[in-house]
Amino acid sequence: MSPALTIRPYSEGALAQAAGKLRAGELVAFPTETVYGLGADATNKDAVAAIFAAKQRPSFNPLISHFPDRDAAARHAVFDARADKLAAAFWPGALSLVLPKRDDSPICELTTAGLPSIALRVPAHDLARALLRAADRPIAAPSANRSGRISPTTAGHVAASLGNAVSMILDGGPCGVGLESTVVDLTTDRVVILRPGGITAAQISAVVGSDVVMAQTDDAAPKSPGMLSSHYAPGLPVRLNATAPDDTVGDEVLLAFGPDCITHGFAKVLWLSKSGDDREAAANLFAMLHQADQCRVKGIAICPIPDDGLGIAINDRMKRAAAPRSQA
Ligand code: TXA
Ligand code: MG
Repeated sequence: MSPALTIRPYSEGALAQAAGKLRAGELVAFPTETVYGLGADATNKDAVAAIFAAKQRPSFNPLISHFPDRDAAARHAVFDARADKLAAAFWPGALSLVLPKRDDSPICELTTAGLPSIALRVPAHDLARALLRAADRPIAAPSANRSGRISPTTAGHVAASLGNAVSMILDGGPCGVGLESTVVDLTTDRVVILRPGGITAAQISAVVGSDVVMAQTDDAAPKSPGMLSSHYAPGLPVRLNATAPDDTVGDEVLLAFGPDCITHGFAKVLWLSKSGDDREAAANLFAMLHQADQCRVKGIAICPIPDDGLGIAINDRMKRAAAPRSQA
């Protein structure tokens, strides 16, 4: 049975309890100036998988990692001059920066959906920043609502949408901005707005001193995995629903799932989850796709994964990994 949901207004005790839960890998919803976030330790793949399960997200979109200040954020990404200017001008605030992820960042691959980039934000909300400071680790947080529902701007909205899927809501009253952060991609020479939000294009353009591009679907495609047929395309061919080795392919590494999965005859086996646990598989997914791609074999085979729960999102991502590369 799910533990009862706790909703607590600000107090030192509530803050300490929420930070303790985040450090223990539990989900805590917390207020920011934009919308309420569903937070989890961004370095803990199981905790991040629980976010996707609670939201019932059909695909793994990358999540924004939240920090109490710029210095904490800078440990995880490479800031260029444009990023420095934007962070100085708008942090804390409703701006998320997409930057190259640092190789030594411990943030897990599920948080960034296997991308080499990372989205970072410092929220302008005292309670959020106090929580981030107390948790003392990056906190991944999408809006705290079930997938496809309206973003929550009060603790009541969160409770109505997520119920016992979240163990605690820190109640900071209504959100001031009520609209998600502007997501700005700085991983190329251009300044691209992937998602309009609380900070306008004109404000951003004035600070960086150059034009700002609004992402069209095509521009956004490489950055928004959920919209692209072939997103994370490993170097090796990917074969779905593999129930036995395929001799016409040659040696394959198998991504295995569940007690009934037949592993015999494969060159190597990587277990997404031996017991058939969709959360465990989600947590392992991107790291194991990378690992499989490094194997000296001819292809990656993926055993059938039931299309329910997080299996829907896992299969969505696997289909993209297997999609013809010409669509990328
Ligand atoms: O205001 C907000 O941003 C709220 C609060 C809680 O901070 N969070 C939020 O997160 O709206 P979410 O997960 O609903 O939206 C994250 C957005 C998505 O559009 C996602 O595609 C984009 O950020 N994103 C995250 N990481 C990215 C990356 N590495 N590359 C490109 N886009 C990324
Ligand atoms: Mg959202």
